[in-house]
Amino acid sequence: IEETLVLVKPDGVARGLTGAILSRIEAKGYTLVDLKLVEPSRDVLARHYAEHEGKPFYEPLLEFMLSGPVVAVRVAGDRVIEGFRSLAGTTDPTTAAPGTIRGDLGRDWGVAVQQNLVHGSDSTESAARELGIWFS
Ligand code: GTP
Ligand code: MG
Repeated sequence: IEETLVLVKPDGVARGLTGAILSRIEAKGYTLVDLKLVEPSRDVLARHYAEHEGKPFYEPLLEFMLSGPVVAVRVAGDRVIEGFRSLAGTTDPTTAAPGTIRGDLGRDWGVAVQQNLVHGSDSTESAARELGIWFS
């Protein structure tokens, strides 16, 4: 059994979509193992997004993630890392496939960073690293 880190980002929490997003994860058959509402520090976000440091969207991304509370979730299931990425849809919510979280619930809001509702770890290494950051 595999585990992944899912974040409901500040746009998802602010729009009242936490329940709808968690519901899709549960309906797919995955298990919510641990869950918390957090206001992450800049340090936590810098560690979480270390791979993006220096990219043009890095600062807007951190500002966005600091703009309100986030729901951090430890999710378990066979192939859940790949499965949740598929459920979330591609990064840009405008073109993410209908049927996915981003495709059904997200859009472009004309701001500097893509507000795309959720984060999901992209590999077993990322999942272990990110779960350690958010649930240590
Ligand atoms: P996460 O699950 O949040 O990691 O999304 P992802 O894996 O689909 O995207 P990635 O890790 O490449 O980027 C992290 C986050 O930065 C994205 O979810 C977006 O919020 C933002 N982002 C990524 N690429 C771009 C971009 O090209 N432009 C803008 N404006 N934002 C971006
Ligand atoms: Mg990513």
